[in-house]
Amino acid sequence: MTISNYLLAKYNVPVPRYTSYPTVPYWEDNIDVTKWLEIFSRDFATANRDGISLYIHLPFCESLCTYCGCNKKITTNHGVELDYISVIHKEWEVYLSLMGSKPVLKELHLGGGTPTFFSPDNLRRLLGPIYKSAVIHDRHDFSFEGHPNNTTAGHLQELYDLGFRRVSFGVQDNNPEIQRIINRMQPFENVKRGIETARQIGYKSVNFDLIYGLPLQTVQTIEQTVRETLSLRPDRIAFYSYAHVPWTSKGQRLFDEHDLPAPDEKLAMYAAAKKLFVAAGYHDIGMDHFALDSDDLYIAQQQGRLHRNFMGYTTQDTDLMLGLGVSAISATSGAFVQNEKVLGNYYHAIDQAKPPVHKGLFLTAEDRRFGKYIMDLICNGQTLIAAVDNEPYEQYVLPLLRDLELDGLIELKSYSVTVTTLGKNFIRNICSAFDLHLIRQRVDAGKKVFSSSV
Ligand SMILES: C[S@@+](CC[C@H](N)C(=O)[O-])C[C@H]1O[C@@H](n2cnc3c(N)ncnc32)[C@H](O)[C@@H]1O
Ligand code: SF4
Repeated sequence: MTISNYLLAKYNVPVPRYTSYPTVPYWEDNIDVTKWLEIFSRDFATANRDGISLYIHLPFCESLCTYCGCNKKITTNHGVELDYISVIHKEWEVYLSLMGSKPVLKELHLGGGTPTFFSPDNLRRLLGPIYKSAVIHDRHDFSFEGHPNNTTAGHLQELYDLGFRRVSFGVQDNNPEIQRIINRMQPFENVKRGIETARQIGYKSVNFDLIYGLPLQTVQTIEQTVRETLSLRPDRIAFYSYAHVPWTSKGQRLFDEHDLPAPDEKLAMYAAAKKLFVAAGYHDIGMDHFALDSDDLYIAQQQGRLHRNFMGYTTQDTDLMLGLGVSAISATSGAFVQNEKVLGNYYHAIDQAKPPVHKGLFLTAEDRRFGKYIMDLICNGQTLIAAVDNEPYEQYVLPLLRDLELDGLIELKSYSVTVTTLGKNFIRNICSAFDLHLIRQRVDAGKKVFSSSV
């Protein structure tokens, strides 16, 4: 399938990735923290019946990868580990005091930054007290992000012993010239050793993150990275489109923008890589994710059990995610909140015994329903509009859907929307037709808050 230049030009506009709806730029600063704590306590009581998700953000990295859009703190001083652990424990205590029963941990993810910046002993020190005050769900799914350069057999074994069965390695690109320009020298040997050690220890699923659209990448270099990746056969691959947001991620200002591939080159890279993934037996899960037959992500999609939250696609359907650590996001059915993004402010709030909340949003019933339409489209490629939404649907959404239909990206049958094979390439644009906050604010032109979709 070839994608016309017309579609490329038309749909290469800034759109969100929809890990939440409403998306973060529409959340409010200085939300009412007392109200958040009340909502947390109320929603926890219901959500905990089948277990909750816990996300812990570990922000430290030893060196700066210039493309990086994540919340990180660069340091080589490992003295920071114990202080950070003690602050996370204090934050956990704040939330424990709001829980009427012992939390049941169904999903746990250590993200970053670089969780493997912490020593294996310190990761046990971090999790020990949390496990002690919680119940571990029988069907738990615990995962972490590992950097191939510093994930040791010790890390993998310690976390395996702590119940982790999934690891995601940041691979990004194997080409030394590209690695030099992104300041991430990472011998392929390290990647190979990481996945082989994880498998020997017994990890059930290994994911690789790759990025296309980085400076100096070409279809040929991408194909080479993909072939090397396929030689190790990770269970899942996240093939991310490079998000260029130099106005928030200042490291990206170190690139010469002329070295960045053009949108049509990026799409050619995506198409070439996808061809190789599919030929090697991987399934296109959606939103740039691929998985083998045997992986839970694919099985869940086949069974209609796929979900999406701030951690990306997930097979767990929990109603509450608690995020601990700097910049971490929590989500309940009534609210989203994000912690302070600056480490000093985060520490300061905890020192004052205050929840370190920076911004958030209390959800309306309409937000919840439109959030569901967007998640349905991302996870299952179709959705059905409820009668209660007829008015905003016909006023704001339908005109945009008619245009998407004319371009062959969706099939529209009265109140049901199905994404076509062509439309899968523009899923973010399709979701944005349901983004009432974005549509209502479109008048507020000139405010570039998202990276381009391609
Ligand atoms: C928080 S990082 C954690 C991985 C770990 N720190 C490492 O580098 O190995 C999660 C993933 O986000 C992706 N990522 C970071 N910055 C990005 C950007 N600007 N555009 C697209 N993906 C990005 C990378 O693929 C990275 O592996
Ligand atoms: S990509 Fe990973 S290691 Fe590199 S700066 Fe970002 S979080 Fe740190």
